[in-house]
Amino acid sequence: MPTIHLVTEIPGPKSKAMVARREAATARGASKLTMVGVEKAEGAAVVDVDGNTLLDFAGGIGVLAVGHCPPNVVEALQKQAADLIHMCAIVGTYEPYVRTAELMNEITPGDFPKKTVLLNSGAEALETAVKISRAFTGRPGIIVFEGAYHGRTNLTLSMTSKYGLFKKGFGPFAPEIYSLPFPNFYRRPASMTEEQYIDDCIARLENALIAQIDPSAVAAIVVETVQGEGGFIATPPKFLQRIRDLCTQHGIVYVADEVQCGFGRTGKLFAVNHYDIAPDLIATAKSLAAGMPLAAVTGKAEIMDGPHPGGLGGTYSGNPLACVAAIEAIGMIRQPEFLARATAIGERMKQHLLDLQAEVSLIGDVRGLGSMLLMELVKDRDTKVPAPDETLLMTQECLKRGLIAIRSGLYGNCIRFLPPLNITDEQVDEAMGVIAEALRVVETSRREAVKA
Ligand SMILES: Cc1ncc(COP(=O)(O)O)c(C=O)c1O
Repeated sequence: MPTIHLVTEIPGPKSKAMVARREAATARGASKLTMVGVEKAEGAAVVDVDGNTLLDFAGGIGVLAVGHCPPNVVEALQKQAADLIHMCAIVGTYEPYVRTAELMNEITPGDFPKKTVLLNSGAEALETAVKISRAFTGRPGIIVFEGAYHGRTNLTLSMTSKYGLFKKGFGPFAPEIYSLPFPNFYRRPASMTEEQYIDDCIARLENALIAQIDPSAVAAIVVETVQGEGGFIATPPKFLQRIRDLCTQHGIVYVADEVQCGFGRTGKLFAVNHYDIAPDLIATAKSLAAGMPLAAVTGKAEIMDGPHPGGLGGTYSGNPLACVAAIEAIGMIRQPEFLARATAIGERMKQHLLDLQAEVSLIGDVRGLGSMLLMELVKDRDTKVPAPDETLLMTQECLKRGLIAIRSGLYGNCIRFLPPLNITDEQVDEAMGVIAEALRVVETSRREAVKA
């Protein structure tokens, strides 16, 4: 039985009416990728307000590793809501708060004593990781990488790339942020081998520590283990190892941003588990709490205790409802069967995408780690000129057919797949069937445009 079931065009009349009200009532800056009005959802299936059932391959932008509304999470939330909705961890202590922190200390990489601070969003986690690093080292400098996305607060926006979409009009940005080149094999100079390219990126990083800032002034190097918004680029192992070594050598805090790539997305609990490297601090959010707003910074106890008492936290940080959801989600995601399934989904999707790439020249690259997969669309495979218009059209054609898929990439020319990790093989095949159809439509419209 297919999951997708359409009874109106997408968006249907009720979706259109709801979205019109949204547009009238809310600021346009907080924009939307689809015109769908959502009624309810379960697993990977979303039911819209017109009664259509769609397949969700955006997963709340990588938040729903355990799918929409898993029964154990719903039950835990209902029970917790009856007992205690809010206390404020600055005021009192409650069991779910303590348990979530204990679990985070237990499951994150690194064989050393750890501590955790709970927060509300990924941006807040990254901002807090910077505060902790600065307080611990007494240094100001923060090194980040081109293509990075760390959030939308002033500090994290200062650490984020893609000026036109995220930063335009919002300056001035925070000082002491140094953004350095990040290795993207697909777009490396044609004259370089992968090995030469990585060495070159490492040389530039080392050079920046002479030309731009002295290591003794650097508090932290912050790196997404797999860039998310930047286009699902896994940090090459040699590059990540060099970051780890430089941090160890100079007393710099290595912060892994695993907000998008953590919690099973890559087939391991954390993406950095693929590398056999332990960061000093790891920032997490998204799939941590099955859709409830929760984020964490976890890491070496002595670094975490750098800030003075009262220096971290906030009114809602570690809210009881978010914490019980996290305890359930962590319990599910850490199971070896769950992670094995995430890997299997990734392999199945990748095979589909590679088959399509062999057929359709628009797909320049298929990449990612585990099930964190993406295709990059280009106008021409030799020149690799990005195809953002075709990418937008692709997502629109997918949506018309009942598949929610979203874009990413520095050039807006990638389609990323972030489905719930408990989807069935049939749902993967169904989604990939839609992708194939949408690609054919886009290819045809391209050919017609060339003829005209
Ligand atoms: C890698 C990464 N870091 C940080 C963030 C910011 O998270 P939030 O939107 O919860 O503030 C995101 C969000 O997409 C992200 O992907």
